[in-house]
Amino acid sequence: MKQTAIYQKKRVNHSKWFNKWIQSPKWLAGFGIAFLVAILVYVANIFVGELHPANAWGLSYGIGAAVLFVGVMIYSLRRRTMGIRALPRSWIYLQFHVYGGALFLMLMFMHANFQLPNGIITWWLWILSIWIVVSGLIGIVIQKWIPTVLNTGLTTEVHYDRIPTLIEASGVKAKKLVAMSGGLVRDFYAKHLENTFLAPQPRLMYFLDAASSIHKDTQKFDHVRPFLSDDERLRFDELKMIYRTKLEMDAHFTLQRALRWWIFAHAPLSILLIVLLIVHILSFVYY
Ligand code: HEM
Repeated sequence: MKQTAIYQKKRVNHSKWFNKWIQSPKWLAGFGIAFLVAILVYVANIFVGELHPANAWGLSYGIGAAVLFVGVMIYSLRRRTMGIRALPRSWIYLQFHVYGGALFLMLMFMHANFQLPNGIITWWLWILSIWIVVSGLIGIVIQKWIPTVLNTGLTTEVHYDRIPTLIEASGVKAKKLVAMSGGLVRDFYAKHLENTFLAPQPRLMYFLDAASSIHKDTQKFDHVRPFLSDDERLRFDELKMIYRTKLEMDAHFTLQRALRWWIFAHAPLSILLIVLLIVHILSFVYY
């Protein structure tokens, strides 16, 4: 009997978690290898010879960091040339941006022999490099994490720009309901709710668990509800719904704002870093 062998290409079945956070295992592996090589070179350097920012070892690390920096910044150019189809996909530039940026920081530390800087410019270079890379990492976390919280933890969808207007409208609705209610509800409203309808109220807790935070906050309604008449209860439940929606808008405001604004903590300072890097290199070449 003729035997047939069926060869199946082995499919790597990464977990959902892995797929969400790591867009390309190949890039991650490449980064891991490059990072390991950098550590090995540094350790070998310590055993073999002296390390100083201006000797051959230190200069090599510095030049490596500068080359990576240029590569990292090319992503910015690619973003402005999205229409040019002949160029590789901008995703590739972003992968280099992220992993190259992290490696840049490692080489910068190696260039400085993992010591604190001495001069003013070198201090600025040191702080800015750390700031930009760390803010980039935070940006990645924000970009991956926030859409999940928005999709799984909240029941409403709302456009960021409309939030203040919608909160104002909720406040008007809530006021109307309270005007029709008795003293207990009015006191409760004045004590716990009135001020919350004035503006969006961002909270750090929404980053971690928006749904639980909102649920906890609305529990205060349960202390008053048993003491109301059937009629009032209906209005009170409606008030609770309005308040809940307001809290959801607060959560949207907190999370969408972070999604919009983190880039301003990351990208603009890179211009300063470019200028200082040029000054740093020129001052070494000419003095
Ligand atoms: C040398 C270090 C770095 C510099 C100078 C730098 C600079 C920049 C600049 C200028 C932009 C704006 C691009 C544009 O729209 O024109 C940007 C975007 C971005 N950077 Fe960095 N970056 C660095 C490292 C990193 C690292 C290490 C990460 C992550 C670990 C990172 C994550 C990001 C992300 C996620 C974006 C936004 C991508 C997008 O949505 O288009 N960056 N960076």
